[in-house]
Amino acid sequence: MALIEINGMIKEYPMGRGKFTALKNIDLEFTEGEFTGIVGPSGSGKTTLLNIIGSLDVQSDGSVRVMGNDIEKLSGKQSSKLRSKHIGFIFQTYNLLPVYTVFENVEFPLILLGMSTEERKKAVLEALDWVGLTDKIKSRPAQLSGGECQRVAIARAIVKKPDIVLADEPTANLDAENSHHILKTMKKINEELGTTFIFSTHDAKVISYLKRKITLLDGKVFKDEIVE
Ligand SMILES: Nc1ncnc2c1ncn2[C@@H]1O[C@H](COP(=O)(O)OP(=O)(O)O)[C@@H](O)[C@H]1O
Ligand SMILES: [Mg+2]
Repeated sequence: MALIEINGMIKEYPMGRGKFTALKNIDLEFTEGEFTGIVGPSGSGKTTLLNIIGSLDVQSDGSVRVMGNDIEKLSGKQSSKLRSKHIGFIFQTYNLLPVYTVFENVEFPLILLGMSTEERKKAVLEALDWVGLTDKIKSRPAQLSGGECQRVAIARAIVKKPDIVLADEPTANLDAENSHHILKTMKKINEELGTTFIFSTHDAKVISYLKRKITLLDGKVFKDEIVE
């Protein structure tokens, strides 16, 4: 079974008295263990597509199934359960909680899952080890560099061992060295844990790591290629 199945999907946004069509007739499938980039210029619909896959938003027409769930049929409670159990998010601007320490930021998704203190500690330390940040456990985001913040965000996304990680332009605010570092980290997680990664990006450095590249142009899938 495909992890994600999108058929004839359309997304419209209200605009004035009419509508603006941001995604046009999208048909896509994603399977386990992918390392895939959604590539395309600004405004091509990358964020809209990731938000719908992540059930943060709902399509206007067509069907979107994520791990067997028809996302438009989920209640708010069911979609938040799908996200908290199965999907990790990484954003361009990290979205860390500023008053929390690194440990607490990474621990947060596990509290939502109702894990015990002991289990949480073990999982957080393991996730921080994956991203090479065990020495920053007690730091707060303001004390970290951009690259370190994004590594915390990766640890937070993977700490619950989700099936899918969605990353919206994860390297947009990073320099070349940090971009390569976080890409290598994500690739290692992809290879060793089998986590599916779907990125949006227009960064050539990210593109060079992809196994599959989906090009969006003007809300349509222009190209879908294996690049290994
Ligand atoms: N909430 C919204 N309301 C209206 N239009 C939107 C909204 N979000 C995105 N759009 C429009 O949809 C198109 C695709 O946006 P987006 O998915 O953010 O593209 P990308 O991430 O590739 O830059 C753009 O033209 C954008 O202006
Ligand atoms: Mg975007």
